[in-house]
Amino acid sequence: MFWKSVVGKLWMTIILLFSFVLFILTVLLLEFFHNQSMEEAKSSLFRTAKQVETILEEHSDIEQSTQIVWQIIDPNKDVVIVLDDTNIYSSLNDLNKKEVYQLFSRDETLKKSLVNDRQVSETTYLSSSLGGDNVTQGTIVGIPINNDGMDGAIYAFQSVDSSESTNAQTTIFILIAVGIGIVLTTIFAFFLLSRVTAPLRKMREAASELARGKFDMKVPILTNDEIGELAIAFNQMARQLKYNMTALQQEKENLSNILINMADGVIMFNRDGEILVTNPPADDFLRYSFLDETKQKKQSGNQVPDALSDLFLEVKGTGKAKIAEITTQGHDWVILMNPLYRQNDIRGAVAVLRDMTEERRLDKMRKDFIANVSHELRTPIAMLQGYSEAIIDDIAETADEKKEMAQVIYDESLRMGRLVNELLDLARMEAGHQTLNIEEVEVGSFLGRISKKFQRAAQEKNVDVYTTLDHPEALVELDPDRIEQVFTNLIDNALRHTPGGGEVQIIQRTLDNGTQFDVKDSGVGISEEELPFVFERFYKVDKARTRGRSGTGLGLAIAKNIIHGHGGKIDVYSKVGQGTTFTFFLPAKK
Ligand SMILES: Nc1ncnc2c1ncn2[C@@H]1O[C@H](COP(=O)(O)OP(=O)(O)OP(=O)(O)O)[C@@H](O)[C@H]1O
Ligand SMILES: [Mg+2]
Repeated sequence: MFWKSVVGKLWMTIILLFSFVLFILTVLLLEFFHNQSMEEAKSSLFRTAKQVETILEEHSDIEQSTQIVWQIIDPNKDVVIVLDDTNIYSSLNDLNKKEVYQLFSRDETLKKSLVNDRQVSETTYLSSSLGGDNVTQGTIVGIPINNDGMDGAIYAFQSVDSSESTNAQTTIFILIAVGIGIVLTTIFAFFLLSRVTAPLRKMREAASELARGKFDMKVPILTNDEIGELAIAFNQMARQLKYNMTALQQEKENLSNILINMADGVIMFNRDGEILVTNPPADDFLRYSFLDETKQKKQSGNQVPDALSDLFLEVKGTGKAKIAEITTQGHDWVILMNPLYRQNDIRGAVAVLRDMTEERRLDKMRKDFIANVSHELRTPIAMLQGYSEAIIDDIAETADEKKEMAQVIYDESLRMGRLVNELLDLARMEAGHQTLNIEEVEVGSFLGRISKKFQRAAQEKNVDVYTTLDHPEALVELDPDRIEQVFTNLIDNALRHTPGGGEVQIIQRTLDNGTQFDVKDSGVGISEEELPFVFERFYKVDKARTRGRSGTGLGLAIAKNIIHGHGGKIDVYSKVGQGTTFTFFLPAKK
């Protein structure tokens, strides 16, 4: 753990570096001290040799002078005076003169003092003939003797073990330095641990919080150095990130709000045809199309529906937008599918769907309406043409016949006029231009007058028309002319579809929040399939039977518009062979 941390690595590096430098330094220092002591030994030996030379010069007697020399030289130094192979004097006792002469006359360096009159020096292992042990190193210097009558060389030498103790001391000092260095480095490392890595650790914690989505994290700025700057930069980054995330979130919300509130459906597919995104109208479409499919097979809910799969495959294959029309569960959809690209690859498709059912219905209604109007007008116009032609061609012989023809023309023109007026009324009402003259009307007298109007026609057909009133004295707010038109239309229908011996009942009921009126007959009734359509313009149940008679199919449409204009509602209940009840409700005005 510690070794993996920054501080551990730093500590290790510093210790290694420190040890390495000290090691090199130790080696160089030891080398330097060694050379230094060698140099010192050498120059001291030269001084000794010179001293010996001076003494030899001052005293003619060699025996006497050597005695002086042996007394004055350092005890750790030794001197050998070589004159020839037999005349060899030395501070050492028991000297093998032969060996010593051979040593000095054969050694390539040392013999130069004897032969070439040159000063020489050499560091070598002292042989046993010079009192050494062949293991310890020693320094030997030689100078030539240039005394008159005397020829040879003076050699002075010394073993070097005396400098070993200095080396050992130096090493100990350096080791102590290494120890202190390691301790200091460790203390320094732990100081760093608290000062440097504590803020770093805080930052790491903050970063992982940030990664978890907590954008409010703030790192305390403890120092003024790079780490402090890092903390400032980190906080800035967190702020920026938060800002960007919020902006992104808002953008996303905006888009999803737009998507949800769109009138058109939107479905997004990925490459494999899985549904990724939908909005409520698209959900409707999917529900309908999956309902269609369950008849054939069960399909997983988020795969492209069968109805769209051909379109999807085509768009995916060609990479081009395509429009198609699909009908599901009686709904007509227009679908525009566009491929979605990632660089050059198609990564899916997005379909925009619009429910065209209402438009299609309105379109059909418009066409039907024109066809119906032309059809309704064609019959009277044909009659007018036929009869007027007959009059012009003098086909009628008697005045009565002529009058009869003129009567037909008159009736037909009235019928046409009424049709056109009704159409105009309907158009005006549907456009919302209905102005009502609301009055307070007493139910009893109002309905009595209307039922009286139909008594004659009822007697002719042998149908009983009567009223059943809950509260005859009740006052109802309505437009009397318009509501009379509603009753006229309903009673007229009832009479027309009720055979002789039947009855038509006009019922009034006072409810809490308004008044309900029923027109109930015991006639032929309307089949269940026809019921939903009777209020539509030009709708006639039995087209053949009503043709030629006054019916145009507008009566109930007009009644419905008038009731809606009063804020009420109209309904129909019927059973074939038993009778029909038209019931409408007028709310009481507050
Ligand atoms: N009481 C009823 N019993 C049976 N069928 C009815 C009754 N009232 C209406 N219908 C049917 O509903 C159709 C539509 O009625 P509506 O009053 O709108 O038109 P119409 O009576 O044919 O023509 P108009 O009233 O314009 O002269 C009628 O053609 C008829 O077939
Ligand atoms: Mg009618």
